[in-house]
Amino acid sequence: MSLSSQSNAGRAGDLPVLQVAMVGHAFMGRAHGNAYRQANHFFDLPFQVVPAVIVGRDQARADAAAHKLGFARATTDLAAVLADPAIQIVDVATPNDSHYEIAMAALRAKKHVLCEKPLAMTVAQCKEMAALAKKQKVRVGLWHNYRRAPATRLAAQMVARGDLGAIRQVRAVYLQDWLSDGSVPASWRTSKKTCGSGAHGDLNAHLIDLTRALTGLEFESVCAVQQTFTKERPDGNGGKAKVDVDDAFCFLAKFKGGAIGTYEATRTAPGRKNHNCIEISGEKGSLRWNLERLNELEFFSFADARDGQGFRTILCMDSVHPYAPNWWPDGHMIGYEHTFVHHLVDFVRALHSGEPFAPDFADGVAVQCVLEAALQAAKKGTWVKVPK
Ligand SMILES: NC(=O)c1ccc[n+]([C@@H]2O[C@H](COP(=O)([O-])OP(=O)(O)OC[C@H]3O[C@@H](n4cnc5c(N)ncnc54)[C@H](O)[C@@H]3O)[C@@H](O)[C@H]2O)c1
Repeated sequence: MSLSSQSNAGRAGDLPVLQVAMVGHAFMGRAHGNAYRQANHFFDLPFQVVPAVIVGRDQARADAAAHKLGFARATTDLAAVLADPAIQIVDVATPNDSHYEIAMAALRAKKHVLCEKPLAMTVAQCKEMAALAKKQKVRVGLWHNYRRAPATRLAAQMVARGDLGAIRQVRAVYLQDWLSDGSVPASWRTSKKTCGSGAHGDLNAHLIDLTRALTGLEFESVCAVQQTFTKERPDGNGGKAKVDVDDAFCFLAKFKGGAIGTYEATRTAPGRKNHNCIEISGEKGSLRWNLERLNELEFFSFADARDGQGFRTILCMDSVHPYAPNWWPDGHMIGYEHTFVHHLVDFVRALHSGEPFAPDFADGVAVQCVLEAALQAAKKGTWVKVPK
């Protein structure tokens, strides 16, 4: 459904407004909140995005967050927010186990939904969410923001135009170290009930989405190994809490068409803070991107003169690069938070034009299918086919 003719939420200046309700207001709340404030300042958009209301579980904390993040108000009453016709977008920025319930309620209320990753806890839930979004004729998006760095977007364009030739291999790692120390307390991220899986659902989910976005490859089958090095952590009340998710999770992949891939996600790699790195090898060249140097893209091409061959680094902050000219003059850097702004900008434009937006919930189903197949593979110790 295109929103171009809708005006039930009023206008700001010359633009119709798009009012956003954001559920959850901590880490991702800050990242998304920044995007809602910045998008119109740097991009010409068909709507004025309005950070309207934060939905939390505690009024005082939600009020403080609304004040800090630039939302007009805060509430603990999600049902009232969903019943408000002025709210058009519901943003789900809460832990994984609550995505399904909140997003389904928002879809039933015919709101557009932007949901954090992983989309839900199971493939079955993801499929229900995708089906309901389609039935309600609303637009949905999944916050796999790493697709939208200038360098990753350029990488996708280079692969699509054939600079690498046919893709043969993907090697991707997402390495962090914050759970290396056994005294780090348990949290929703270390309990299967609230997060589904550990480094796998948290970090491999991004790598799976990046692979699909940059190469167009579809996963066919996987085999995997996982490990939980610290089985119990302090529960914050003087006791211990069981850790029943992986600290580290590695898997091999076969893609449709014959390409292969290796994946590693870990929170126990000392010295690696947010090392999200993907290398793509084709028959004619290779690309490598690392979030910790997010404006750079490394490129090797056999088409270069033989005596000048070698990986070169493209600084993707030039006016010819995706998103870059909307920020600063050539060579003036942007950062992590900008990927969320780009994500929102493309979503808002898609709302107006009716053009597809990716990743949507169907992409969320595809990612979850790979995550679940890899979990089964690790359990069984065999190759597992990724369902369609
Ligand atoms: N796209 C990314 O790069 C990225 C990065 C980090 C986290 N995430 C995802 O974002 C989501 C949130 O992660 P986070 O790091 O912001 O977590 P967080 O713990 O920092 O914040 C969670 C927020 O949700 C609230 N909350 C918890 N349970 C709730 C419920 N049942 N109903 C309403 N509010 C609830 C908490 O009060 C808090 O405000 C997770 O799904 C996570 O996987 C994505």
